[in-house]
Amino acid sequence: MRIVCLISGGGTNLQALIDWQANDLLGDAKIVAVISNAAAAPGLGVANNAAIPTGTVSHDDFPNRSAFDHALIKLINTHEPDLVVLAGFMRILTGDFVAHYDGRLINIHPSLLPKYKGLNTHRRALEAGDNYAGATVHWVTSELDAGDIIRQVEVPIMREDTEETLNARVLDAEYTLYPSVIRDLSLGLIKC
Ligand code: GRF
Repeated sequence: MRIVCLISGGGTNLQALIDWQANDLLGDAKIVAVISNAAAAPGLGVANNAAIPTGTVSHDDFPNRSAFDHALIKLINTHEPDLVVLAGFMRILTGDFVAHYDGRLINIHPSLLPKYKGLNTHRRALEAGDNYAGATVHWVTSELDAGDIIRQVEVPIMREDTEETLNARVLDAEYTLYPSVIRDLSLGLIKC
């Protein structure tokens, strides 16, 4: 299963995927390319360190979302992906993009969806007085963070938590959740 990862920032989930791959834990999945919408994304360095080909399609270079998405599709497709993995990719994708990768596009979101779609998930969970937060891997559809859920992981919220401490706990859980879902997809253990 050829995987292209799309990133915008830190790439710590990407690092987790690379670590699982390096330890032969990623099933039949192989990360064949990492593409960013920002040339300065530290995640590109993560990919470079693992000798994974990288590319950048900068959204600033395009007049609108549609033109950007079509350039992105063109670059992604040179790598012939079976699965496109959003790993901290912070652009909203057009319906055309989502339709092009229908059934081949997944995302990880830092909340227990359907709760807290969009941004500031941890702040909202803390403000609501929730006892649990978590992360969700889901299929991507044209509606933001609303595609079918593949798998979720819960973490407790502690009384003394701040956004930062909760973010760290959720990220830590993401580093097992995302690779395990990709492994299981590659082994046919999850139905597409
Ligand atoms: C994570 O919180 C993930 O849930 C969200 O974006 C963040 C990515 O972080 N989609 P990183 O770039 O993997 O460090």
